[in-house]
Amino acid sequence: MLNLENVSKSFKPPSSFGRELLSLISRKEIGGSVHAVRGLSLRVKPGQILGLVGESGSGKSTLGRIMCGLYRPNTGKVVFEGRDLDSLNKKERQRLSLKIQFMFQDPASSLNPRIRCGAALSEGLVIHGLGNRLERREKVCHLMEEVGLSPKLIDRYPHQFSGGQRQRLSLARALSLDPSLLIADEPASAIDVSIQAQIINLLLDLKAKRGLTMVLISHDLPLVCLMADQIAVMYGGLLMEVFPRSLLGQVDHHPYVKALWASADFASSQKITLEGEPPDPLNPPPGCPFHPRCLEAVDICASLCPPMLPLGSDHFCACHLRK
Ligand SMILES: Nc1ncnc2c1ncn2[C@@H]1O[C@H](COP(=O)(O)OP(=O)(O)OP(=O)(O)O)[C@@H](O)[C@H]1O
Ligand SMILES: [Mg+2]
Repeated sequence: MLNLENVSKSFKPPSSFGRELLSLISRKEIGGSVHAVRGLSLRVKPGQILGLVGESGSGKSTLGRIMCGLYRPNTGKVVFEGRDLDSLNKKERQRLSLKIQFMFQDPASSLNPRIRCGAALSEGLVIHGLGNRLERREKVCHLMEEVGLSPKLIDRYPHQFSGGQRQRLSLARALSLDPSLLIADEPASAIDVSIQAQIINLLLDLKAKRGLTMVLISHDLPLVCLMADQIAVMYGGLLMEVFPRSLLGQVDHHPYVKALWASADFASSQKITLEGEPPDPLNPPPGCPFHPRCLEAVDICASLCPPMLPLGSDHFCACHLRK
């Protein structure tokens, strides 16, 4: 359904005034571009949930935004249902935005505080000229019910909802245009565990009912493994490993995946902790970005970035020690 071919995204440094200010504050020389995503290829198959996992700053949200056309990559191609997003004209792009929807990471800041729930949920329908006022209101009530919110709350403002309810609102808004691909950026990060489970179940129900294809972005590997059919693990703007959920624990995973899994296993007595800091996106290390923290690193890891190689059906790994 969606193909990413060698996509990269860098962000330019702030203006010289901003740079000087940041240098003063951080007492470090600030300059150069932030390399958020660095030449990455990935496939999303129809009807599947692709889980995108990685630590904070690994480039997950940036990649999600590239997938739905919110960011244009500096290099590489994004192909949705056979069409290169870059080759689309304005009308075609508008039509595409009906099919791919993005659920933003922070529901509090992605909902306009001055717009009531009903208007926020029907905004997409208005923009695309779908239905009359009454039909739109009916659709909004139906959407609210679908995500487990009472339609009685339709006239409330975002601040009058709880964190979990705001996540549901964001989800309802993303579903309002009946997309075929939903990119959910940390849909359950800002809420407590019980509500998290409700949102996860809701997403799984929606997948089954609507036949939605989903990209689920999260820093939580166990949570992603509960839901996703295919798991892609990012580090420092690159993919480390892509594997089907059925292979979890059955193969010799990338050292970063092993460390992530071990860090999440609170019951384990032999805890492998991830020491050190994630790479600086302004100045990524040469070679494999994970080598400074890798327990298995050898000489070549510090000088040569390993290519992503197929290790089996739907299983790819970027590690010099796994071929
Ligand atoms: N608009 C931007 N301008 C400059 N730098 C940016 C911008 N957006 C992201 N970045 C930088 O790109 C890198 C990747 O950011 P991104 O938000 O994609 O990470 P993430 O994996 O989603 O992190 P988190 O788990 O914290 O949400 C970070 O170093 C971030 O500071
Ligand atoms: Mg993010």
